[in-house]
Amino acid sequence: MRAAVAVSQDASNPLAGLVLQQVPDPVAKPGWVKVRVKASSVNMHDVWTLRGVGHDPKNIPIILGCDVAGVTEDGREVIIHPVIADANAGEGDETLDPNRALLSEQHDGGFAQYIVVPERCVLDKPASLSFEEAACLPVAWSTAYRMLFTQGQLRAGQKVLVQGAGGGVASAAITLANAAGATVYATSRSAENRALALELGAAEAFSTGDRLPERVDLVIETVGEATWAHSLRCLKPGGAIVIAGATSGTSPEADLGRIFYHQLRVIGSTGSTREETAAMVDFVERHQLRPVIDRVHTLDEIHLGFQAMIDGGLSGKVVIAIP
Ligand SMILES: NC(=O)c1ccc[n+]([C@@H]2O[C@H](COP(=O)([O-])OP(=O)(O)OC[C@H]3O[C@@H](n4cnc5c(N)ncnc54)[C@H](OP(=O)(O)O)[C@@H]3O)[C@@H](O)[C@H]2O)c1
Repeated sequence: MRAAVAVSQDASNPLAGLVLQQVPDPVAKPGWVKVRVKASSVNMHDVWTLRGVGHDPKNIPIILGCDVAGVTEDGREVIIHPVIADANAGEGDETLDPNRALLSEQHDGGFAQYIVVPERCVLDKPASLSFEEAACLPVAWSTAYRMLFTQGQLRAGQKVLVQGAGGGVASAAITLANAAGATVYATSRSAENRALALELGAAEAFSTGDRLPERVDLVIETVGEATWAHSLRCLKPGGAIVIAGATSGTSPEADLGRIFYHQLRVIGSTGSTREETAAMVDFVERHQLRPVIDRVHTLDEIHLGFQAMIDGGLSGKVVIAIP
């Protein structure tokens, strides 16, 4: 089968390590399922792997792609919960299993014609979504779901700030928080993404760093260094920042005085449990939500999709369709 494989890592030229090649079809071992991939979306995680950030070089070569929608051999239309982990090893929470792995970290990912995954990772695709749309959900939407509702304990009527509206996690967070009855403020560097935030349900959208009309209960942070100080300033006393990513850098000034004086809570979040991914899918169906797609490429055009991710300025997800 044809696949997009990470063959090397280079911080300054990540695309040099992304190669399209013929590889053997995968074989499902007992308890695993073979899925014909129909679409797989690109995440910053794929770029970090090619840059050599957070990915052990000993797991290279590996097929990239952690966000997958497809069809099982018995014809079931599915999306794939992207975390391979053991809840028992995480004291009941699979995201706390020290050996947890996102697809494409230790097991081949979805930029290929077939993928094999544990049976528990296979969930029914929402019937209302196309394969391209469904392939946007597993990583970004489940991450946003855990950030808002598990880690952030968001309730209807609360105020939320979502930083960097154009990102996959951020745009999902705006949509989910609005549907849950929160008042959502969003920031973006671009007028286009501020307009997108309003379309997704934000009450107001601001330029990055602008003063909000009021302080918020919760900040959803994936931008990192560029927005951290603003995130801290925007919180009510006792409020929480849930952080799942730091695209612009991981080492902002901590501003410890503000954190302890206002009793702010800084909460990390990574991935989602299978139950959270399934709850997110139910929520999406119940509220008839749709992810925003910036562009769709074929597998042969995958480098264009990665370049768009690296260049930034996207409004929604980049999807690779594998018809
Ligand atoms: N922990 C997890 O489980 C998990 C899961 C998924 C993703 N992540 C991480 O979360 C981060 C977000 O990923 P993503 O795929 O959603 O989106 P992304 O494309 O990495 O970007 C997030 C948004 O940040 C804003 N941004 C980027 N650079 C900026 C800068 N220098 N100054 C101000 N704003 C900036 C942009 O929004 P505007 O253009 O609208 O300003 C961008 O759309 C990544 O680092 C990713 O690795 C973590």
